[in-house]
Amino acid sequence: MWLARALQSQGFGSRKGCVLRVRSGAVSINGVVVDDPEHEVDPVGLELTINGVTWPYHEKAYVLMHKPAGYECSHKPKHHPSVFSLLPAPFIERDLQCVGRLDQDTTGLLLFSDDGQFIHRMTSPKKGVAKVYRATCADPVDAAMLDALRNGVLLNDEPAPIAALACEAIDGHSLQLTLAEGKYHQVKRMIGATGNRVDKLHRVAIGDFVLPETLAPGSWCWLEAADLLQLEQPWRSVMS
Ligand code: URA
Repeated sequence: MWLARALQSQGFGSRKGCVLRVRSGAVSINGVVVDDPEHEVDPVGLELTINGVTWPYHEKAYVLMHKPAGYECSHKPKHHPSVFSLLPAPFIERDLQCVGRLDQDTTGLLLFSDDGQFIHRMTSPKKGVAKVYRATCADPVDAAMLDALRNGVLLNDEPAPIAALACEAIDGHSLQLTLAEGKYHQVKRMIGATGNRVDKLHRVAIGDFVLPETLAPGSWCWLEAADLLQLEQPWRSVMS
């Protein structure tokens, strides 16, 4: 692959812009400036340095963010800044999309990708990839509430009750809830249907992949193949 083409594929501008960028001497590989746009590169394991910033080549982008509160999962946010404002510009140029949305006040594990098939597999209810949330509730969490969430609660506009895959109390006011799908405000609506209210909501895991404690709110990192396998693990009940 030509260097300028590799640069373009990573979101560093138009074909012409990338040719000019390479010619200007802004791009180096392994510490050596390469100013020939037609220089052949092997994309596998390629690390580009553009104006001093190192960028590992990824054919498709899989990105993890620890979403902070107060950001909307939209390219055109209405009332709060966009989560995309926390990502570097090449991701926007590459048209990265949120893999499912979190509400502006929800924190935790948020994925982005430009791989449409991956986004479909992670978000389609038919695939049943589990999403795990920790909810802090306004009123105490009791056994009746946990039973209702496990057995199914009826939500407005839904034809049948919806049950959590799993639900356990964490302490007197908080619980962990595992869902197979991601309907609009689903956790808040399910907990609302039990007569309680969500004060704080945090997504801790998707599939078998847990948000790393080392990733600070507002930070992001690349996901690699092993992470993707964990994300796509089908849900298994601890009871079975
Ligand atoms: N359920 C909700 O209610 N809100 C979220 O952000 C995610 C799941």
